[in-house]
Amino acid sequence: MKIVVAIGGSILIQKYDAKMFKAYADILKSLSEDNEIFVVVGGGKPARDYISVVRDLGCGEAQSDAIGIEVTRINAQLLLSALGDSAYQKVPVNFKEALEYSAFGKIIVMGGTEPAHSTDAVSAILAEYVKADLLINLTSVDGMYDKDPNKFEDAQLIKEITASDMMEFIKGKDVKAGTYEFFDMTAIQMIKRSSLDTVIANGNNPENLVKIMNGEDIGTKIISN
Ligand code: UTP
Repeated sequence: MKIVVAIGGSILIQKYDAKMFKAYADILKSLSEDNEIFVVVGGGKPARDYISVVRDLGCGEAQSDAIGIEVTRINAQLLLSALGDSAYQKVPVNFKEALEYSAFGKIIVMGGTEPAHSTDAVSAILAEYVKADLLINLTSVDGMYDKDPNKFEDAQLIKEITASDMMEFIKGKDVKAGTYEFFDMTAIQMIKRSSLDTVIANGNNPENLVKIMNGEDIGTKIISN
C-alpha cells in the first residue's frame, strides 16, 4: 500500500527528547518493507513557542505561519535522523519534490508547505498528489469526538463520519497561526473531493500505526460521500 502518515508535533516532541522519534522510526522502517510511506510531521509546542515570539515582534499571520513551517521542517529533519538509511535524507518543501524524492524508494518525511493551513492539510494534499491508498492522521486524542475530550468527560468517540458531516462540524473553528483546530478545513476538503480513505487515531501509542495497517478498528474513519 501507499500510505501518508501525519504525525502531530505534539506527539513527536512532547519533551525535548528522542523517545518518540526512535519509536516511530522503528515502526516506519518495518512498515516500509511492504509499503510505500510518506510522513508529514507537525510543529507541536516548539512551533507555537516560536510563533508567539514572532507575533510579539508585530509580524502578521502569514509570517507567523512561515516560522511554524520552519519548525515543522526541523521536526522532519529529526525524524530523518532517526530513520537513517531507510529514508531519503532531504525534507521536500513542496509536493512535487516529495513525489520526485519518492522515486528513490525510501521513506519520505516532510513538514509544512505554505501559510494558512496546518500539516493536516499538507498530509491530505500529499495523499491526493501521490495517489495514496490510505491517509493516517496520528493525533493526541483517540479520534474525533462529539465535543472536546480534554474539556468534557462525557465526550463520545465518533467511530465513523462522512467528510461532509465533518466539514459541518469544524466550520467556524479557529484558523490563526499555531492554533489550527483539531482538523483543518483544507484537509477535509481534499479528503472529500478525492475520496481519500482516512483514519484519525491516537499517536501517543506508536503501535496504533501498526494496528491500523493490520486493519484493526481503532480511531475515527472518515468516509467519503
Ligand atoms: P502544525 O500543523 O503542526 O500545527 O504546524 P499544530 O497546531 O502545531 O499541530 P500539532 O501540535 O503539530 O499537532 C504548526 C504551525 O505551522 C504553520 C501553522 O501556523 C501551524 O499552526 N503551518 C504549518 C503553516 O502555515 N503551513 C503548513 O503547511 C504547516
